[in-house]
Amino acid sequence: MSKYKIKNICCIGAGYVGGPTMAVFAEHCKDIKITVCDINKNRIDAWNSTDIKFLPIYEPELDTLISECRNKNLFFTTDIKNSIENADMIFLSVNTPTKLKGVGAGKASDLKWVEASARQIAEFSTGHTIVVEKSTLPVRTAKTIEEILFNSQLNRSFGDSKTFSVLSNPEFLSEGSAIKDLQFPDRVLIGGQDHKAIESLANLYINWVPRNKILRTNIWSSELSKLTANAFLAQRISSINTISALCEVTEADVKQVSNAIGLDSRIGNKFLEAGPGFGGSCFQKDILNLVYLCEYYNLNEVAKYWEQVVKINEWQKNRISKLVVNSLFGTVSGKKIAILGFSFKANTNDTRNSPSIKICKDLLDEGAVLSIYDPKVDEVQIENDLNILNFDNSLNNSQDSFIYADSIEQAIQDSHAILILTEWKEFYKINWQIMFKKMKRPAWIFDTRSIIDTKEVERFGFNVWQVGNKSFDN
Ligand code: UDX
Ligand code: ADP
Repeated sequence: MSKYKIKNICCIGAGYVGGPTMAVFAEHCKDIKITVCDINKNRIDAWNSTDIKFLPIYEPELDTLISECRNKNLFFTTDIKNSIENADMIFLSVNTPTKLKGVGAGKASDLKWVEASARQIAEFSTGHTIVVEKSTLPVRTAKTIEEILFNSQLNRSFGDSKTFSVLSNPEFLSEGSAIKDLQFPDRVLIGGQDHKAIESLANLYINWVPRNKILRTNIWSSELSKLTANAFLAQRISSINTISALCEVTEADVKQVSNAIGLDSRIGNKFLEAGPGFGGSCFQKDILNLVYLCEYYNLNEVAKYWEQVVKINEWQKNRISKLVVNSLFGTVSGKKIAILGFSFKANTNDTRNSPSIKICKDLLDEGAVLSIYDPKVDEVQIENDLNILNFDNSLNNSQDSFIYADSIEQAIQDSHAILILTEWKEFYKINWQIMFKKMKRPAWIFDTRSIIDTKEVERFGFNVWQVGNKSFDN
């Protein structure tokens, strides 16, 4: 099968998807020059930082790859025009958050960054360019991109021969294990019409992915597969979270239930951990996209079915903040509560849609004083997420504020309760006997990630609640 020659790759968007993905491409495609560009100068400066500790995102193994490839065949720049001009293949990895206003608000994705990038490609590209959708996008976005690119072709003066092929190549990496997921993917999906373009991209993956794991589909199947994969994964989490509540009132143990059902090979044992609800940039956004799509095609029952997955996720977060308040004698006003973990899962500094945000906001609304510790999320990020700056840029008083703790001990000192919200490894090693002595009485632990030994901490004197485990009188 004939292919286009790929010597220069450009990736628009240097975020959680673009950065790690291009680092892995650079490692395996040494003869290709890869340029990652972004409008955010601070982000690009951080990617170029001489001290590898200051990379803009935290991801295990990423620093090693960046040290190996940066300024050899991997470059980070704000010079978008030049990067596009030289590229044979362009990956679109820009943000696509849920729209906040206008048509489809609250459900549809905001495609303004995708559209802006497509217009830049239309303007600056030269010769034949393969445009690859990497960001998670609503189904039929490729059509929008094609329209922008092909209309620009029509407007062009005679003699200017730009041409395009558009492919969908969704990213299935999971934050916290992004490099491993990219190095050893379960599958690589390439959707498109131009077989020559599909083979050009497949030919790059062949450098490290077994051929039988590279699937070719039509473009719409590729786009819909990404939304469906995320919807199915999120649905499993909402399902097990509903069962966690049932376990708490029946004295069944959700871990035992997960284990028992996961041994059924038809169900499988992954994504069955009950928790505070799913977070991250994809699950909610993708389900809402699916809901929007179904409503558009008048498949209202289907839309409602998937919407329930998101509703259950909200319900799980609400019930956790409520049970904290109820346990502390119905009020947390003025009480210090230690929050362990703010990122949406371990091994990432990403807080997008983190369940911690909603749960912390609820507790702040109830007047709690939160003392928040997370090994990778910084104070400014937490402040932004909790929106607790006043208009004059000063912090609210401690009634509805938080303390940023530098260590687990500092967070816990003089607190009434500990709320574990992220499953960071270091939380598994806490000496609870020592922590108990630092706290007010009665001392509570609320473990939303099932990481502690409840029997042991009870012996030290704690009152304990653990998701899907401890029978609990509200
Ligand atoms: C997800 C998909 O897994 C990935 O394929 C896609 O490309 C992007 O979206 P990500 O959001 O990075 O990846 O993380 P993931 O590991 O899927 O976890 C999402 C959320 O679900 C986290 O908040 C996590 O804590 C939660 N979760 C996951 C559970 O509560 N229980 C589980 O058993 C698994
Ligand atoms: P993701 O998790 O999908 O990677 P991020 O928000 O981490 O999302 O990254 C998306 C990046 O795309 C951001 O750094 C943003 O500045 C960048 N971006 C958005 N629009 C453009 C554009 N038109 N040109 C270049 N970069 C862009």
